Amino acid sequence: MAVPPVPAGATAPALSPRALRDAFGAFATGVTVVTAVRPDGEPVGVTANSFASVSLDPPLGLWSLANTSPSMVAFGLGAPYAINILADGQRDLAMHFARSGKDKFDVDAAWRMNPEPPRLHGARARLDCRVHALYPGGDHTIIVGEVLAVSRSTASPLLFADGKFGRYTLDAGAPAVNHWSGLHGEWI
Ligand SMILES: Cc1cc2nc3c(=O)[nH]c(=O)nc-3n(C[C@H](O)[C@H](O)[C@H](O)COP(=O)(O)O)c2cc1C
Repeated sequence: MAVPPVPAGATAPALSPRALRDAFGAFATGVTVVTAVRPDGEPVGVTANSFASVSLDPPLGLWSLANTSPSMVAFGLGAPYAINILADGQRDLAMHFARSGKDKFDVDAAWRMNPEPPRLHGARARLDCRVHALYPGGDHTIIVGEVLAVSRSTASPLLFADGKFGRYTLDAGAPAVNHWSGLHGEWI
């Protein structure tokens, strides 16, 4: 259904929390578990779909964390953390790390390795990062990380849209697009 344009001079309808959640949810994303170690040595892991790539040079990515999160203390400037990008068989793991509380690392898939950020077995990819900058973002904090190392597997991605998990289906025959090359005027 087409969205009618707002006529000039008209005020936009009030934004309800439900409408905002639904609109944010319309943007399909991958799913990550961000892992780090708090200054007291406790590992933390947070399911997050707010991850986004930012810059190739320097290599930067961002995500946002709720200000109320007990994990926030692990993400001071310069702190190491890992973005574990989940594979399509890791829905239960995503839900596990979306619950608050201790003992999140009591699962076979989590490989705890202080002082490094914990690894999650079977992840589609992993980005080892260091906190580069922190910005206020309303009830969240935007965490920009410098990417120090990457690794990846051939697993399919876990996806999230409209509050539900799903799988990625490749469009057979569609050509690959390198959107980064647009920076240099070349789109393929
Ligand atoms: C698919 C999915 C995506 C999520 N994305 C985020 C996110 O980007 N940022 C965030 O702060 N919480 C996000 N959450 C909620 C956190 O995973 C949840 O609040 C978790 O308990 C946070 O861990 P904590 O106990 O350390 O705060 C998401 C949850 C799900 C299921």
